[in-house]
Parts: sequence; C-alpha cells; structure tokens
Amino acid sequence: MSELSHIIAEATVRVESIEDFCLETVAPILKQWDFCRITGLVTEEQAKQSLDAVAATFSDIVDHPVTGEAASDVMTNFQKMSIGRARHGGVDRPRFMRTLYNPVWCDDIYKMRDNFTALAQVRNILSGMPRDFAIARVEDDVWTAARIHHFPSGGGFMVDHKDTVLPKMLKENDFSGEYYQLLLLLSQKGEDFETGGGTVELNGEMIEYEDYTLRGDILVYNGSTVHGVNDIDPHLRYVQSSPAGRYSALATLFKKLG
Ligand SMILES: [Fe+2]
Repeated sequence: MSELSHIIAEATVRVESIEDFCLETVAPILKQWDFCRITGLVTEEQAKQSLDAVAATFSDIVDHPVTGEAASDVMTNFQKMSIGRARHGGVDRPRFMRTLYNPVWCDDIYKMRDNFTALAQVRNILSGMPRDFAIARVEDDVWTAARIHHFPSGGGFMVDHKDTVLPKMLKENDFSGEYYQLLLLLSQKGEDFETGGGTVELNGEMIEYEDYTLRGDILVYNGSTVHGVNDIDPHLRYVQSSPAGRYSALATLFKKLG
C-alpha cells in the first residue's frame, strides 16, 4: 500500500446508515486531516444511476451564462456555466465547470433525491443541527443548494482554495453550526475520465485523491481544508454539447437572497 492510499484509508470511515452517524464518528479524523471520507451511505450503484440520469438528460442548450441569473433561478432546476475568475462572487477563484442546480423540492430529474438528502443530513449532523434542517424547505432564511458540478473533459478545473465565502456568510447570519463542505463523488476516475480530479492538501502536500476513492464516497472538508480540481482530461478537445467529464454533488447551505 502506498503512503497516500494508507493516509486515505486512515481518513475513511464506513457508515451503514444515517441513524448510526454522529459527529464523534468523524471528529478525530477531521481534527487530524481537515478531511474525511465517508463510505457506505451512498452506494456505487446509486451514484452511477444518478450519473446515468445526468448523461441521459444532458443538453448544453440550457446552459446559462456565468453571471446574470436571478437569485430565485438557482432555487429551481437550473443549469449554468462557471468559467473565469469568479470575482463577481467576491473571490478570485479561477474555474471551468458547469453547475446543475437540483433542489430537493424540484423534479428529481437526476435520481438524486435520496443522495442529496443523505448528504444534507450528514452536513446537519456535523453542524449540530436537526437532521432534516433546511433540506425540503427554506428554514431560518437558509436552504440546501443541492447541485451537481460538472468538470468537462478537455480542461474542467477548480483552482485550489479554502472555502471562505460561505463560512463568512453563515457567521454574518448568526448561523450557529460549524461549517463543513460535503462532496459526493458521482464519477469514477479511470472510467468517466482519465487524468486530473479532486485535490486536497494532506501533510502539506496537494494530492489527487480520486486514484483512491470510489463513486458514492462522501468527502468532508472544513473551512481550513485546501481543495480543488486538477484539469480533467486536457488531452481531449472540449465539446460544450458533451456530458463527458468529472462529476461531484454538493448540498451546501445557502442564504435565501432576494
Ligand atoms: Fe470549495
């Protein structure tokens, strides 16, 4: 076993059901690594079924531009590109990706309802909130921005960064819970893309973890975790109408705007 796969194994916890999950399950791992991998809550088959649904319904015709959407648009099934430095969001965070917003109160077009619910429940448990807080509805002015990130083959990426915008927003809005970012891997390196993938800083070094993870894995970051996505298959031509690439799902708490 390589040193890296050994570290990932040490940072992994298997959870059979959400009823068995509590903060204490992962707290020592997060304390040591600012990173944790949870397996068992979403199966590879469930993740694959969702990815297949994304591919089957995929169309670039509904791609909205990088800026200009209404605050209410992302609270519906809504697809947009995120290309450039993202400075309109108050940060300098180069990326090349597509976001497919799919709140749990909208049509379940990607067969993601159960997966998003599990992800949001883990988030709530970690943050010390009620298990079903702000998942199916807006609560205390926040909601679960259930969405899929598509990093297209041909150079999709996200520069390495720490999450700063959302923790600050939540603090300013007197949200009492700790900030955690959770990621559900929907694609499989070696099958859906060949090179690149998710990165995280471990032991002071940026590593590509998807050589050691499986689709269906849930990854946990906190506000101190440096993470990103290395260029996905840069040896291929980027094709806007193609669903090829790397996919992850998020269930972040967003403040309701407007
Ligand atoms: Fe991030």
